[in-house]
Amino acid sequence: MMTEYAIELNNAGFSYVNDTPVLSGISVGIRDGEAVGLIGANGAGKSTLLKILTGLLPHEGSVQICGMEVEKKNLPSVRKKVGFVFQDPDSQLFMPTVYDDLAFGPRNYGCSAEETERRIDRALERLDIEHLRTKQTIRMSGGEKRMAGIATILTMEPEIILLDEPSITLDPCNRRRLIEILNEMTETRVIASHDLDMIMETCDRVILMDGHTIRADGSARDILTDEELLASCHLEMPYCLQRARWHS
Ligand SMILES: Nc1ncnc2c1ncn2[C@@H]1O[C@H](COP(=O)(O)OP(=O)(O)OP(=O)(O)O)[C@@H](O)[C@H]1O
Ligand SMILES: [Mg+2]
Repeated sequence: MMTEYAIELNNAGFSYVNDTPVLSGISVGIRDGEAVGLIGANGAGKSTLLKILTGLLPHEGSVQICGMEVEKKNLPSVRKKVGFVFQDPDSQLFMPTVYDDLAFGPRNYGCSAEETERRIDRALERLDIEHLRTKQTIRMSGGEKRMAGIATILTMEPEIILLDEPSITLDPCNRRRLIEILNEMTETRVIASHDLDMIMETCDRVILMDGHTIRADGSARDILTDEELLASCHLEMPYCLQRARWHS
């Protein structure tokens, strides 16, 4: 079935325990190639929403990826379309070395040895982390793990990339590199983060979550400059906008 959306939710919801909703009444469509920032205070449900999109958690209502309902029988196809960079990079890396982790996805998808090598080379080059290729994952810093975790997603060449707090633990150079990579991407991107400066630089559209649901959905410019709206959701404007005000 053809649909105009890469990601489409209709009245989607979720509860972890006792029917207390963590998410409810979520309806939203994200088009092919869009870069969307998902923002909201701690506990607003950003990570939960991303997990629902990949079928890691169940949901109420309808959640579709490229026109496919996210349900058990479709999960293998859904997961080929969607790459998920977890909030915790330790959840991403489970092989002895970075190389093994990078090779795992393509091999699992039946890529040839040459194709697997090509994808690994390209991912390491895109992230500028060639030096991590043969590193043992348990002997890496948090930021190195984060970069390696993002690389494992790139080797799967998904159409949709979900990133949960990707800039956390990155040093300024790696954060800058991440921003450049996100801006070079043509894939559909959903980036959950408290780093609103990064969201401002990488996303045209922002979805603001509060009170178990979507509180606002609009252009990054409109939402990230709306101080009252952000404050009512326990957020502040990006630092660069606050600084600009101090200097004016
Ligand atoms: N495994 C779990 N069991 C029960 N409740 C959970 C679980 N994981 C999260 N929650 C609850 O669900 C709500 C949403 O959590 P979630 O992790 O999605 O928020 P978030 O927006 O990603 O927050 P943060 O900015 O801190 O990453 C929170 O109230 C949290 O306490
Ligand atoms: Mg989270």
